[in-house]
Amino acid sequence: MLKPLLLLLVLAGAHSAPLGDLYLPVDDVEILTIENFKKYVENSTSAWLVEFYASWCGYCQRFAPPWKKFATETAPWRDMVRVGVLECSDEINTPICREFGIVKYPTVRYFHENYHFGGGDFGVVVPREFPVTVDAIKKNVIERFMTELSEGRGVYPNLLPYLHSNLEPFFDEENDDIFYGFLVIEEDNYLGGEVALDLHKTPNITIRHALYNNTNLVKNLKIEKFPTLVIIDRNNNSQIITENIEHKKELKSTIVNFLEKEGVKIIEYTPDKKGHLSQDPDPKQHSRALLRQKIKKMGDAVFQMDLETALRYALEREVATSRVIKGDQLVALKAFLSVIKKYFPFGYNSTSFITDLTNLTSSDEVQGVQIQVLVKQAEENGMFSTPQRFLGCQGSANRFRGYPCSLWRLFHYLTVNSVLLNVSNRKANPVEVLSSMHGYIKHFFSCSHCSEHFQKMAAERNLTSVSSLEESVLWLWEAHNVVNKRLKGDTTEDPEYPKEQFPTRVRCPECYQEDGSWKKKEVFKYLKRMYGRYSVRYVGSDTKVLFPGLDR
Ligand SMILES: Cc1cc2nc3c(=O)[nH]c(=O)nc-3n(C[C@H](O)[C@H](O)[C@H](O)COP(=O)(O)OP(=O)(O)OC[C@H]3O[C@@H](n4cnc5c(N)ncnc54)[C@H](O)[C@@H]3O)c2cc1C
Ligand SMILES: *[C@@H]1O[C@H](CO)[C@@H](O)[C@H](O)[C@H]1NC(C)=O
Ligand SMILES: *[C@@H]1O[C@H](CO)[C@@H](O)[C@H](O)[C@H]1NC(C)=O
Ligand SMILES: *[C@@H]1O[C@H](CO)[C@@H](O)[C@H](O)[C@H]1NC(C)=O
Ligand SMILES: *[C@@H]1O[C@H](CO)[C@@H](O)[C@H](O)[C@H]1NC(C)=O
Ligand SMILES: *[C@@H]1O[C@H](CO)[C@@H](O)[C@H](O)[C@H]1NC(C)=O
Ligand SMILES: *[C@@H]1O[C@H](CO)[C@@H](O)[C@H](O)[C@H]1NC(C)=O
Ligand SMILES: *[C@@H]1O[C@H](CO)[C@@H](O)[C@H](O)[C@H]1NC(C)=O
Ligand SMILES: *[C@@H]1O[C@H](CO)[C@@H](O)[C@H](O)[C@H]1NC(C)=O
Repeated sequence: MLKPLLLLLVLAGAHSAPLGDLYLPVDDVEILTIENFKKYVENSTSAWLVEFYASWCGYCQRFAPPWKKFATETAPWRDMVRVGVLECSDEINTPICREFGIVKYPTVRYFHENYHFGGGDFGVVVPREFPVTVDAIKKNVIERFMTELSEGRGVYPNLLPYLHSNLEPFFDEENDDIFYGFLVIEEDNYLGGEVALDLHKTPNITIRHALYNNTNLVKNLKIEKFPTLVIIDRNNNSQIITENIEHKKELKSTIVNFLEKEGVKIIEYTPDKKGHLSQDPDPKQHSRALLRQKIKKMGDAVFQMDLETALRYALEREVATSRVIKGDQLVALKAFLSVIKKYFPFGYNSTSFITDLTNLTSSDEVQGVQIQVLVKQAEENGMFSTPQRFLGCQGSANRFRGYPCSLWRLFHYLTVNSVLLNVSNRKANPVEVLSSMHGYIKHFFSCSHCSEHFQKMAAERNLTSVSSLEESVLWLWEAHNVVNKRLKGDTTEDPEYPKEQFPTRVRCPECYQEDGSWKKKEVFKYLKRMYGRYSVRYVGSDTKVLFPGLDR
């Protein structure tokens, strides 16, 4: 007898899209949405730097603080370039992210001033390095500005290096109202560019930089240390050289002090501070927290809802965001669909969905939108038994757990059930699920650093030499524990769900030897019990979809 526990779900309320809370209206970034994106970015008099992100992605979480700080520190640039964020994991925004071909998070794109939609211009990717620092962001952004300038766009001050071998022609390229020149000679830390951007509104001055490898200039000015500031007064052509300025603050204050002494008024652009937007307290928050506590008490349970949500999320928000899928990516997609078809716990009437998908991928290339359409149809035709929401993978805040949690569970589920369905199959391919997972993670998982880590780990831990189905279950278990260990104490860790070696001693005392090492046989039994298809919980599932005709 199946007793659907729909009641609990009612408590969950109508919350579906995980609304990002990485950025708030009080931050110095503009929160873009599908509704205002075009309005702001198209025909804008300033350029735009837009971070496309997913709130569940760990790197996006780590990227957010420096990105906000970058926005705050570059406030004086705001009339030239604006800083925005757009959350792709909010389903409302998904069409924009697809249109712009965002497949990895976070992605920063630069849109030049007077940008127009259509015509194949989807902005330019601004590289971001990890670990992220505000300085690294500034450097990459200034490099972008330099390219814009060299291509004849951008309303920035002259950021291109001074190439002459002496100061004679310094004012030749400048307007008549420029009286003071500041030349920063530096290695490559973009001090000059940054200060030039900060002070671009100050009249009658120009701030340029030259590189240390302009050897003639360096020789002529007898400069030995970098960065060095040279101040040039156009009236009497006097030069003041201040060597070895270390920091931006020092450079800026030297320039500002000089100008103040000369009676020049310093003007720094200050954008309008955005007011606090009033935010409705979420009336469903309390009941959601209650539900989460109940679910948590159920221990290491696997829920149909998380598995179905993982699959839809993967297909809609990752696979379908590619404009065209072909070549190795298509091979990876086929392998993924093949194991989904074999082992995913579809309802009896829902397999046609995966058959259609498989059929679609039998051609040489597939459009992301075609996948999108099939998932949407499946949704409309009631192929899924749950709303698209997380249950066992719901975190204590929206930025925690969610999709990556459900994806792990999906792949554990698939490995375990490939064992259960092939007990007497001697020809079983031991890496069928693992290699399909590897392909999926490599080609589609939008958390790019996770993907890289996983690929590296797969190589180091010899994924391809796994020799039995049982071993494949343990391989994934071990690999996941390596990730858990690495992420313990990380900022992405949900304080209510700390990263532990799995299963914990409390859940599975028999999994541990006395000395604390694993009893793998017991671990295997535990995983089989937990992820086996008959253990899946149907909280929030419409069991009529899963078991049609079954009398309840
Ligand atoms: C392939 C992959 C690689 C990732 N790499 C990174 C990364 O490099 N950096 C990063 O910040 N984030 C990474 N993530 C995300 C991260 O691992 C977590 O998924 C995320 O932080 C959410 O954690 P969670 O607490 O919900 O538990 P998760 O680690 O997501 O685990 C989900 C559930 O699986 C079960 N489980 C836990 N451990 C095991 C195990 N060993 N065997 C079987 N079941 C287990 C538990 O029930 C747990 O609740 C990756 C995710 C995936 C899918
Ligand atoms: C931008 O300008 C183009 C051409 O002038 C116009 O067609 C378009 O509607 C404008 N877009 C917005 C959002 O104002
Ligand atoms: C300084 O620049 C402003 C704006 O270009 C100009 O109007 C002014 O005349 C300049 N100052 C002097 C002293 O030339
Ligand atoms: C100086 O260095 C920069 C980058 O560090 C390089 O692009 C440039 O070509 C170099 N110029 C000369 C003259 O060597
Ligand atoms: C000439 O240069 C000196 C610095 O050597 C400076 O203090 C002075 O203001 C300049 N004079 C004029 C007329 O600009
Ligand atoms: C679903 O499956 C049941 C049992 O196999 C069948 O009787 C029923 O017609 C199916 N319903 C739909 C809508 O396909
Ligand atoms: C596969 O798709 C083609 C083209 O849409 C269709 O003609 C064919 O019937 C489909 N095959 C199956 C098995 O659904
Ligand atoms: C398990 O058996 C099924 C049915 O024979 C087969 O399709 C599948 O590929 C097998 N799984 C593995 C991992 O070999
Ligand atoms: C992977 O294989 C190599 C070579 O066979 C071996 O040295 C290494 O220990 C293996 N690594 C793991 C984690 O099993």
